[in-house]
Amino acid sequence: MQIRFSERAKCFRPSEIRNKLFDDPEIITFAAGKPEETLFPVKDVMEAAKHVLKLEGEKALQYSDTQGLREIRQMIASQRMKQAGVNVTEDDITLTSGSQQGIEFSAKIFVNEGDAIICENPSYVGAINAFKTYRPKYIGIPMDEDGMIMEELEKALIANPNARMIYTIPDFQNPTGRTMSIDRRKKLAEIGSKYQIPVIEDSPYAELIYEGVRAPAVKSFDKDGWVVMLGTFSKIFCPGLRVGWVCASEEMLQKYILAKQSSDLQCGSLDEKIIIAYMQKYNLNEHVEEIRKVYRERRDLMLECIRTYFPKEIKYTIPSGGFFIWLELKKEINAKELLLEAVKNAKVAFVPGGAFFTDSGHSNYIRLSFSFVDKEKIEMGMKRLGSLLYSHY
Ligand SMILES: Cc1ncc(COP(=O)(O)O)c(C=O)c1O
Repeated sequence: MQIRFSERAKCFRPSEIRNKLFDDPEIITFAAGKPEETLFPVKDVMEAAKHVLKLEGEKALQYSDTQGLREIRQMIASQRMKQAGVNVTEDDITLTSGSQQGIEFSAKIFVNEGDAIICENPSYVGAINAFKTYRPKYIGIPMDEDGMIMEELEKALIANPNARMIYTIPDFQNPTGRTMSIDRRKKLAEIGSKYQIPVIEDSPYAELIYEGVRAPAVKSFDKDGWVVMLGTFSKIFCPGLRVGWVCASEEMLQKYILAKQSSDLQCGSLDEKIIIAYMQKYNLNEHVEEIRKVYRERRDLMLECIRTYFPKEIKYTIPSGGFFIWLELKKEINAKELLLEAVKNAKVAFVPGGAFFTDSGHSNYIRLSFSFVDKEKIEMGMKRLGSLLYSHY
């Protein structure tokens, strides 16, 4: 059979972070960037769902607005966006199926084939893969402990007039766990205005902060409407409900709404209503506070294990929030080969870092996630990974 797939379909790539290798229950996996399931408030969600169906019956199962129900957008504006330091109303927001859809729409809206997308190097592999369909050129900007380096960004913008958007994850970045400094956030918003280029701020982890004070969003420094902020309930509540949002200036927002309409009409009405009912009855901030405690402990333990069980030469980031720790191994180690060995001999998994980069090479990095594994398994898995690493040092 010779199926003539579109050029677009040829760009689809399976995600390295959804590897079937990790499905073996004996394997302790630090690969998945998933939230801990036992933290999902199942009983409260059940109550909220029952309430909605009892109160609204069939109506709760009907189509609804493309932009999303007004009430949930009001809640997002007055709670989630306000906490990010962004003063907007429900009219500045449209819902998406997780922030992933907002990522994909951004390329759909702003990028033609051959245009350049600028992002941190490394960046979220799910975004790099989603953008690929639009056949862009990638320009990766180096980072340091304070996130994307703004001087490098400006150089890239000057050298590449065909750059059409900047994609950034300023809070506890996936994969490095790094956070952009406040000065750079201000500068990035200014750069968006100066070069008249959309800055897509993807911020799914910002509320999962384990120490210090949350930095205001890049969007909070946006004077002329060049920053588009993507948010989501996935990491702070339940990813299975697939509700995220885009906050953008009017002309851009209209394009996102039309992209949503032509793609899948709307988010699930029932999903939206369950979130509304949950937020009316319970306090989402209290839930976030509770889950932060668990993730903070896991992060602390994983860092402790790196210090105890790993060769001292290995460099690693210390994230103050989010799900990820990023490791730089010695150059001679190929993390993809190491993964095969880890799965087979040590029954432990991670994500090799190469796929997060916009250019080739970088085979000596790995991403570890501490969100999805309990403390006992973190200790056990890290010990196993440590002895495997020692055999290479
Ligand atoms: C940086 C980043 N953006 C977006 C997403 C997608 O999240 P959602 O479930 O909201 O689509 C993820 C998920 O891992 C992520 O790490």
